[in-house]
Amino acid sequence: MADKSKILVIGATGYIGKYIVKASAKAGHPTFALVRESSASNPEKSQLFESFKSSGVTLVYGDIYDHNSLVKAIKEVDIVISTVGAEQLADQVKIIAAIKEAGNVKRFLPSEFGTNVDLVEAVEPAASLFGLKANIRRVIEAEGIPYTLVASYGFAGYFLHNLGQPNETVPPRDKVVILGDGNPKGVLVDEEDIAIYTIKAVEDPRTLNKTLYLRPPANTLSFNEIVSLWEKKIDKTLEKIYVPEDQVLKNIQESTFPLNLILSIGHATFVKGDASIFKTEDPSGVDATELYPDVKYTTVDEYLGRFV
Ligand SMILES: NC(=O)c1ccc[n+]([C@@H]2O[C@H](COP(=O)([O-])OP(=O)(O)OC[C@H]3O[C@@H](n4cnc5c(N)ncnc54)[C@H](OP(=O)(O)O)[C@@H]3O)[C@@H](O)[C@H]2O)c1
Repeated sequence: MADKSKILVIGATGYIGKYIVKASAKAGHPTFALVRESSASNPEKSQLFESFKSSGVTLVYGDIYDHNSLVKAIKEVDIVISTVGAEQLADQVKIIAAIKEAGNVKRFLPSEFGTNVDLVEAVEPAASLFGLKANIRRVIEAEGIPYTLVASYGFAGYFLHNLGQPNETVPPRDKVVILGDGNPKGVLVDEEDIAIYTIKAVEDPRTLNKTLYLRPPANTLSFNEIVSLWEKKIDKTLEKIYVPEDQVLKNIQESTFPLNLILSIGHATFVKGDASIFKTEDPSGVDATELYPDVKYTTVDEYLGRFV
């Protein structure tokens, strides 16, 4: 354990942060979870903190709006991973300022965990969210902080449990609404695999100042292909309702948060097909499945099997 980098996760109690903390500890990294005092006393989170502690994770009290607490926590580690949510994306400048002051960080992974925000074709409100992440990239570059950007594309858990059908809790068995013509490819990755690939990349020289693309071949699929996998599983053909792009755009404009955000991300993923970005536009990116062929990732097909 002594030669493994020490990792601090900021946003450790969040949706993806939890997975990252667990993967870090499991891989043998001395792992530190930044926890707000208000969360530490939240009974709903006590089970999570117990599981962190039983995995050997050290809880560190702090807040991104408390500069001294951040600097103190960062000085103890080699790597900082931010998994803060949408509300705090812009305020990651405070993490960057603390990293600069601490002066010891070998790698910073900002809160990305989605598409390549510099290259994706997105409409509002997704465009603004992606813009916040792009701004943080620019600050990191300007400050000369060593970084890795994790382009994990879509979280499987956000899409596959209902095949992207808003208001549904299970994948449909009668009819399915498909954005656009259903042919452009997106990528969906199991959250545990996102965390495993992320932790493998943190001290890998091949990912220094690079974008790490998570695009497992079996998970790089069009909406139509995903529906077809599901149909085979349940041995049934679904009625398919295709929503032309013009109508998708109109629906986005006419809906309110969070549906407009979900639809605009769906538009970027499956109407524009953001899986194409890696091959066509970013030759400087690196592919996680090529760097780490030993990871036996969960395929979309296997994931869908949980719902049969
Ligand atoms: N690709 C996809 O499909 C997808 C889906 C969802 C999210 N994402 C991306 O994943 C990243 C993380 O999102 P998420 O949904 O996992 O986040 P989340 O669940 O909203 O978690 C946010 C985390 O930030 C912490 N936090 C909030 N305010 C803080 C503060 N002042 N100081 C320190 N920590 C603070 C929260 O701690 P408390 O417990 O104390 O509140 C929590 O741990 C984002 O970049 C998001 O865009 C991607």
